[in-house]
Amino acid sequence: MKIIWQIETQVDPAWLSLMQTAADCALLSEGVMRPCAVSVRLCGDEAIHEINLTYREVDRATDVLSFPTVNYPEGVTAGQADKLLRREYDDELDACMLGDLILSVPHVLAQAAEYGHSPEREAAYLTVHGLCHLMGYDHIEEDDKRRMRTMEEKILSSIGQTREGEASVTDETLLALAKKAMERSYSPYSHYAVGAALLCADGRVFQGCNIENASFGLTNCAERTAMFKAISEGAQEFTTIAIAAQGSAPWPCGACRQVLNEFAPGIRVIVTWDGNVDEMNLCELLPHGFGPKSLE
Ligand code: THU
Repeated sequence: MKIIWQIETQVDPAWLSLMQTAADCALLSEGVMRPCAVSVRLCGDEAIHEINLTYREVDRATDVLSFPTVNYPEGVTAGQADKLLRREYDDELDACMLGDLILSVPHVLAQAAEYGHSPEREAAYLTVHGLCHLMGYDHIEEDDKRRMRTMEEKILSSIGQTREGEASVTDETLLALAKKAMERSYSPYSHYAVGAALLCADGRVFQGCNIENASFGLTNCAERTAMFKAISEGAQEFTTIAIAAQGSAPWPCGACRQVLNEFAPGIRVIVTWDGNVDEMNLCELLPHGFGPKSLE
């Protein structure tokens, strides 16, 4: 999912990566194959209050507001509305615009404290709730409410954010997230797009893609992009990395094996390409590796 961010109130970057993962998983869970986009605005209570009053005639601030572009017929959601989605195709975005989400940052912080979980988890929960609305779900009738709740749970559990907070990201989800990250690759020189999805011990997933440079030598691989994002946001324990490409098996290059070895010498490495999947442990990919222990 392409997210057009409008950030008026600065937040921890961990929010944004979890929200991106949640958005990718929302499309996967709903079975939307078409590239989609959403605009996400993070603002204060005053701004969301004004929008609530102007567009909904509700005179108070709230946690999340969603404005869908698609007018789904009764009982139809995005997964069954390919034709309707196609009408929202935007040339410039190269994606179908699902609509706008507005989140109140003060509400996210207050609700996270109230429920005793992290603000990024609350931000992801509200993103999933809002995205369900943008995909045609609602919670007016009991039946609809149940269907929406089931989809929310499906999306949240696919990113390891179940109610119990346990990590339950499956290999299937991780591989799908690596493929989504591959779509964001910047590889105009090699035309070899790579995506990675790195699963942390705490259930967070960080995605990365390869980022090339006109100077060639400054290219960053997908795996290291994901690793550096994770480490800079406080994660240091990793269990699995999924890597996706097309045309050949994207086993990590030597530099990436070395960087993975620094933090996770026993990490599972799963690769996927052209419908194939293969797996190895980093110990097998980097035998007798030089790491922190070598300096003890
Ligand atoms: N690449 C990766 O992203 N990961 C690897 O482990 C191998 C190579 C990228 C770097 C470059 O953008 C392109 O693939 C061709 O080398």
